[in-house]
Amino acid sequence: MISKITLLGIAIFYASIAFAQHRAPWVVPESAKEKKNLYSPDESSLARGKKSYITECVRCHGKEGKGDGSSAMKIEKTVADLSSDNVQNQTDGELFWKISEGRKPMPLAKTTLTDDQRWDVINYIRTFRKK
Ligand code: HEC
Repeated sequence: MISKITLLGIAIFYASIAFAQHRAPWVVPESAKEKKNLYSPDESSLARGKKSYITECVRCHGKEGKGDGSSAMKIEKTVADLSSDNVQNQTDGELFWKISEGRKPMPLAKTTLTDDQRWDVINYIRTFRKK
């Protein structure tokens, strides 16, 4: 028979793995950071970016990117504030990689948005930068 102590040990073991994953830094490959956004943030790029943002991102990240979308409450992880310096100080290449790959519970966008659409979304989320 498995003792209560053993079960407790197993529970603590899995809880600590979950905790570690939660806190793990989101590492982007060096080569991806250098990738350049070929689309200038002109009116049409921003309009396209906004459209994709509304369909794919707003439910979690919220209208102004603050992480307060309608689904944010249901998520066990804190939804990133896209207007924060932490996000805005990253390169376009870094954001492109993260948005493309996703990280649970954030879905990967490379299957739902084309490369062009993802670059446009990045131009759009740059408009959230705190003034
Ligand atoms: C289901 C909710 C959800 C959706 C939809 C979603 N995100 Fe996220 N996003 C998150 C969560 C949660 C995190 C934090 C993930 C982490 O740190 O592991 C995050 C993190 C990010 C980050 C990284 C922030 C950092 O810490 O570097 C960016 C950039 C981002 N999201 C942009 C987007 C964009 C753009 C879209 C739409 C294409 C999108 N997200 C869709 C929930 C979501």
